Amino acid sequence: MPLSNRSTLTQYLIEQRRRFPGASGELNALLLDVSLACKAIARAVAFGELGGSSGDVELAGGAINVQGEVQKKLDVLSNQVFIRRNEWSGHLAGLASEEMAEPYQIPASYPRGKYLLVFDPLDGSSNIDVNVSVGSIFSILRAPPEVIQSGRDVSEADFLQPGAAQVAAGYALYGPTTMLMLSVGNGVVGFTLDPNLGEFMLTHPDVQVPEDTREFAINASNSRFWEAPIKRYVDECLAGATGPRGKDFNMRWIASMVAEAHRILMRGGVFMYPRDTKDPSKPGRLRLLYEANPVGFLMEQAGGRASTGRQPVLGVKPTELHQRIGLVFGSKNEVERIERYHQQPAPRDEVVPLFTERSLFRD
Ligand code: AHG
Ligand code: MN
Ligand code: MN
Repeated sequence: MPLSNRSTLTQYLIEQRRRFPGASGELNALLLDVSLACKAIARAVAFGELGGSSGDVELAGGAINVQGEVQKKLDVLSNQVFIRRNEWSGHLAGLASEEMAEPYQIPASYPRGKYLLVFDPLDGSSNIDVNVSVGSIFSILRAPPEVIQSGRDVSEADFLQPGAAQVAAGYALYGPTTMLMLSVGNGVVGFTLDPNLGEFMLTHPDVQVPEDTREFAINASNSRFWEAPIKRYVDECLAGATGPRGKDFNMRWIASMVAEAHRILMRGGVFMYPRDTKDPSKPGRLRLLYEANPVGFLMEQAGGRASTGRQPVLGVKPTELHQRIGLVFGSKNEVERIERYHQQPAPRDEVVPLFTERSLFRD
């Protein structure tokens, strides 16, 4: 086998750390533990039906997580893998996950550290039984100084930091290949898991989201619940070359946010899961702390943009651990256009032409 010149994840992290001579190496160690969790989940996912972990959790009536969603066995397993691989190290003050109502406390038998790990252990898990790509997505924050000093249990409030405060964020994508996309605040890099070595190898050293795109992603079955700026934007895309945009667009919907984020990091595009009127108790579908914030950090670090439609996602001060939020991200010029549509009243001659003859979404 030819000798590879590629850096490993470890090498990349050590070289990044040299930029900060005073750094202790704890963040690197934490990221390597996270990457090991992702490798373990990749194997569990790859075995599919053979692994005995497919399907829903088998409890009377199934298990429902804090989101009110049915848990897959692999949701639960992936959550346990994240905890097991990270709780022992002394780098974390606490963890929080989509699959746990409350923050997870580091057991008394282990030391406590200075970081908080927030994660969705298996994003897109409704796709798992049909063998479509899923992923794990995570965000790393600093614990408040008082938590570090006292070593006390973490509370929900300790996690309620804006996305701009993230130290690092990334995701692993379990697709035809397993990849890890990462930002430690110095751009976005991508690693591909070498199945022979079991190592993440640097394959995408400088990920940039193209500023323009002709590809958009949205769950169009929600169109009747969209607000006017989103209706206007989508309708203009659908109108194609003969409409106000003067060009044809293509549409994609995987229903795995991590997979959509990956497509957009690789070739541009815009993803929307906007605030809508479907369920007044849920201002959006996706969760701020472990979906919108890490994806927002990656997009901004790769020259893209992430927004609620009304403000940059990374500027939002969270109010709840499992808070949901409207999310638009991807190619900068399209996200900025959608933000402009939220600021402006719709032009008179273009008012929601969704319900006109040429609309695909007419009632
Ligand atoms: P999760 O599997 O962690 O609950 O997240 C699923 C999310 C996200 O990945 C995806 O973009 C979205 O839900 C899909 O929503 P629809 O079911 O409305 O398509
Ligand atoms: Mn998710
Ligand atoms: Mn999930």
